[in-house]
Amino acid sequence: MSATTNLNHQKTVLITGASGGIGYELAKLFARDGYNLVLVARSRDKLDRVADELKAKFGISVKVIAKDLSSSSAPGEIFNELQQESIKVYILVNNAGFATYGLFAETELKGELQMMQVNMVCLTHLTKLFLPGMIEAGEGKILNVASTAAFQPGPLMAVYYASKAYVLSFSEAIANELQGTGVTVTVLCPGATETGFQKRADMEASKLFKGRGVMEAETVAKIGYRGLMNNETVVIPGLKNQLLAQAVRFTPRKMVTKIARKVQERVD
Ligand SMILES: NC(=O)c1ccc[n+]([C@@H]2O[C@H](COP(=O)([O-])OP(=O)(O)OC[C@H]3O[C@@H](n4cnc5c(N)ncnc54)[C@H](OP(=O)(O)O)[C@@H]3O)[C@@H](O)[C@H]2O)c1
Repeated sequence: MSATTNLNHQKTVLITGASGGIGYELAKLFARDGYNLVLVARSRDKLDRVADELKAKFGISVKVIAKDLSSSSAPGEIFNELQQESIKVYILVNNAGFATYGLFAETELKGELQMMQVNMVCLTHLTKLFLPGMIEAGEGKILNVASTAAFQPGPLMAVYYASKAYVLSFSEAIANELQGTGVTVTVLCPGATETGFQKRADMEASKLFKGRGVMEAETVAKIGYRGLMNNETVVIPGLKNQLLAQAVRFTPRKMVTKIARKVQERVD
């Protein structure tokens, strides 16, 4: 074990949505580098399996908090539990998120309110709670997972795209505010990635996920991890995704919105 890895043993990373997909892949990368982990998601059984695997493989300590982040009390409960156990969070990874699919006039409000709570409110609330400790320590890192959806409106997933635009805007703004404090903020914007996400959003048949260029969660996590460690602000995995994110800036917004709809449509 290297000296750096040993030092990381004193540092804790809190990852939301660590029971699968990109969050699980990120957890493996932090564990490999010797960080202790706090893993949050709803599925306790999955989190326990991840914890057992990473403890055995990397000799780190892992705490599991099974919590539904669509509950407004969840961020405060997580923060208080860690305070009581004197666990200081050095890196906060706001990764948990999900989407709903369909015409806004027809989708269920309940799912969308829960999505806004998990994707935006919880992310903001956890950041608010853990940031003062990082600023006081003069060091810390925040990784927020947005999406390439953040760069344009998304018909058929209107609320999801808007929620990710919030994450991108919020992250870039506080990254600027925090300059000189020792705390950095990175926002990871993946394009279509092979995870449990598509199934939950019932969009496995959409052109977005049928097409080529769907990335592996492991690759996306590695790129995000590198960007976080290099203190980059906006990280877009994959050349195609980077080009698309740039292209929308020079294309009329109505046209961009039309194209986004085409991409979201199902091919049955
Ligand atoms: N996959 C893609 O194509 C893609 C593209 C761009 C951005 N993203 C973003 O990447 C992030 C990770 O998603 P993923 O693709 O890895 O999807 P995933 O495989 O479905 O993982 C989502 C994670 O979030 C957790 N989660 C969902 N709802 C939760 C809730 N109410 N409370 C607590 N935890 C919750 C899930 O755990 P439980 O189910 O156990 O609660 C799971 O660990 C999300 O923010 C997503 O928007 C994904």
